[in-house]
Amino acid sequence: MNEFNPIYLDHNATTPLDPRVLQAMMPYLLADHGNASSLHRFGQRARQAIDTARQQVAALIGAQPDEVFFVSGGTEADNWALREGVAAAAAQRGTTGAPMHLVTSAIEHAAVLQTVERLRGRGVAVTFVGVDGAGRVDPEAVAAALTPETTLVSVMLANNDVGTLQPVAAIAALARQVGAWVHTDAVQAVGKIECDVRALGVDLLALSAHKLGGPKGVGALFVRRGLRLPSLVEGGGQERGRRGGTENVAGIVGLGQAAELARAEGSERARRTLALRERLELGLLARIPRLTINGREAARLPTTVNLACAGVDGLDLLLNLDLAGIAASTGAACSSGRVAPSHVLRAMGRDAATAAEALRLSLGATNTEAEIDRTIEVLAEAVEGLRAQAQPA
Ligand SMILES: Cc1ncc(COP(=O)(O)O)c(C=O)c1O
Repeated sequence: MNEFNPIYLDHNATTPLDPRVLQAMMPYLLADHGNASSLHRFGQRARQAIDTARQQVAALIGAQPDEVFFVSGGTEADNWALREGVAAAAAQRGTTGAPMHLVTSAIEHAAVLQTVERLRGRGVAVTFVGVDGAGRVDPEAVAAALTPETTLVSVMLANNDVGTLQPVAAIAALARQVGAWVHTDAVQAVGKIECDVRALGVDLLALSAHKLGGPKGVGALFVRRGLRLPSLVEGGGQERGRRGGTENVAGIVGLGQAAELARAEGSERARRTLALRERLELGLLARIPRLTINGREAARLPTTVNLACAGVDGLDLLLNLDLAGIAASTGAACSSGRVAPSHVLRAMGRDAATAAEALRLSLGATNTEAEIDRTIEVLAEAVEGLRAQAQPA
């Protein structure tokens, strides 16, 4: 395996498009190219395809189709939920004009953290709840942060850097006691682990197609029936007046198909991926001294291995792996290019130097045992080489 036969271990950044998803999308890029708002047959075919996709996405997350709104991706879904949700929750419970308070965690994706900063600039009080050394939010810490002014609580279902799963159902039950709405960024979770909006008890849930074998640039926000969440994007009344703009019909069809496949194959994929993750972790621990797997003691996504080799910079490892044709990440892909140690690891109590050792390998169901074995070899050699270079002559 070399650069002509590369190994892709960056599925948390994005997943390859499933060929069956592409096949489902193709007619809507070519013959059935109508605008779903048009009254002629081209338009009606597009409209029907969107309706089917809405049912497919709803079925994956245990929602009703009318609770699913298509948007341009996870980032927009998070922005919408937070920007509009914080005031809409106040309005719905009749406290408009009163101070507003939002509770979130220190390990959220930038799509949430940056939006929260914007809201803070507009006068919304914000409490960031920390995590333990394994990257877990403690529901008791959320309970302690809640006040009668809390209108929105936003805690992610699965972390993108370390893969830790968060106790969202317990958090939602607590938030409900003060009448707050609950949003969860489930972008990394949907299609990889069981996600049921009723079991979670959430009001708003963000998901993104390109994390589950679908195309980039399309996602959805689940909005629980009865919530009066105003639109974020104004336009021509699409998505029942809740999200303006001509629908990305092919993308939405792709998301629907990816959701249907995840529903049918999700547990088998998770089983396969978990076995590969175990093989990778055990192999690396056996080969590399002073290796830590961040968050190993917590429940994690089956896809994610975040490791640190003492004294070895994660970026150096990433570059070595890339030379050998293996694609990895040092942290959140959305912020890579900007090399700052992961805020998630910092929140887990790692100092800046230790956080800079992080390397994230994220798996998918199409990876093979041979690829995992090759990765163990390459990584062990790279660590040995980099440690030897670092030795004083
Ligand atoms: C947890 C999480 N939330 C949100 C996003 C943003 O989703 P999108 O790329 O669809 O905008 C990502 C993407 O990396 C993510 O991992």
